[in-house]
Amino acid sequence: MTTLIKNAVIITMDDEKPVIKGDIGITDDIIAFVGKSKDFTPERTINANGNIVMPGLVNSHTHSPMTLLRCYADDLNLQDWLFNKIMPVEDTFTQEDIYWGSLLGCWEMISGGITAFADMYFLNKKTAQAAVESGMRANICRALQCFDETTANFEKDERMREALELYNMYNGAGEGRITVEMSAHAVYTNTPEYLMFVAQTTDRLGAGMHVHISETRRENEECIKKYGMTPTALFKSCGFFNTRTNAAHCVYLSDEDINIFKEYKISIANNPTSNLKLASGIAPTGRYIREGINVALGTDGAASNNNLNMFEEIHLAALLQKGVNENPEEVTAYEALKMASTNGAKALGIEKCGILKKGCRADLIIIDTDKPHLTPYYNPVSAVAYSAQAADVDSVMVAGKFLMEKREVKTLDTEKIKHYAKKKGGAINAACGC
Ligand code: NI
Repeated sequence: MTTLIKNAVIITMDDEKPVIKGDIGITDDIIAFVGKSKDFTPERTINANGNIVMPGLVNSHTHSPMTLLRCYADDLNLQDWLFNKIMPVEDTFTQEDIYWGSLLGCWEMISGGITAFADMYFLNKKTAQAAVESGMRANICRALQCFDETTANFEKDERMREALELYNMYNGAGEGRITVEMSAHAVYTNTPEYLMFVAQTTDRLGAGMHVHISETRRENEECIKKYGMTPTALFKSCGFFNTRTNAAHCVYLSDEDINIFKEYKISIANNPTSNLKLASGIAPTGRYIREGINVALGTDGAASNNNLNMFEEIHLAALLQKGVNENPEEVTAYEALKMASTNGAKALGIEKCGILKKGCRADLIIIDTDKPHLTPYYNPVSAVAYSAQAADVDSVMVAGKFLMEKREVKTLDTEKIKHYAKKKGGAINAACGC
């Protein structure tokens, strides 16, 4: 199939030529050209009508089934929120809940221009199934947690068994759109002995790693008190970081931690909304970028955000750093968009993605600029970073196929998803007496 998207303002995210006015040709799932071409014969032509076309957004850290816990527990710190409110309800989640919660997440993400996401949760063969059905790209991992120090039990560990089953069943599924990674949830939900076992298993598989690191000051202080080192140093001492690693949050990295991130080329998934809402703090991403670390952007779960809207994250990623550093040049509009696209693709290990140029993957979005808040605009990069809203996304393409066209999601039965989510929300409400 050959597709021509004509008459577009194209944000390529290619540093050599970030903005081009013209057309994009797509052959199957690959971009054939960007700009103008005389010898491209399209089977279908889409008129972008002067709207903005840019790479699809990459949500580099989320827990998609947590859409079912949206606005369930708010105005609490991470420890109270997670251990006293969220985990008790999560313990009751069935495979069906995970499936529909993941579909709800995919629906919300596609509607807001997200083409790929990194998802950490449990029972997530169902998330993988949902992602395959949605047509999105996804990196999926079973969050491993263990408070047992008996190494003899590790091989029989139920969570690890689930992680390996997920890997064997879904790594490379959905025509290669699904990647299964390994995951240690965090240092405060694991023992060093178990972390070593996780690192060895990850190296044996050659799988990517997705972790939470230094999300709160308390996490750091307790880790240093208990082990005499930071979470990053503890992970390293347990044998982590030999494979591609995506570390969420990183609000409190020490100078030594930053050196480890540089040495091992660890990516950071910045989650500004979640860090603000749980009062965890503000990650110094401007510094991380200057240090040469690959900084991506994520929403975290919908229970701590409370949506999966990358436009809000882009907005905050740029604005927070300017305000905190009293420097308007800190995290520019272009850098914020890069975090949400190119850097995200890199964090997830998706090659030739997050950039619109010949030979790259045809993962892109069309943003409708015929809106009051986008009228007029001068610089399309600024318009997306500072003015655009998620609902302005008109169409979404992954691997050359439209998942949403003219606001209509084509891959999902949205009525069924809505029905299940409302029913489940009602059941949770009844059970907790909220
Ligand atoms: Ni998280």
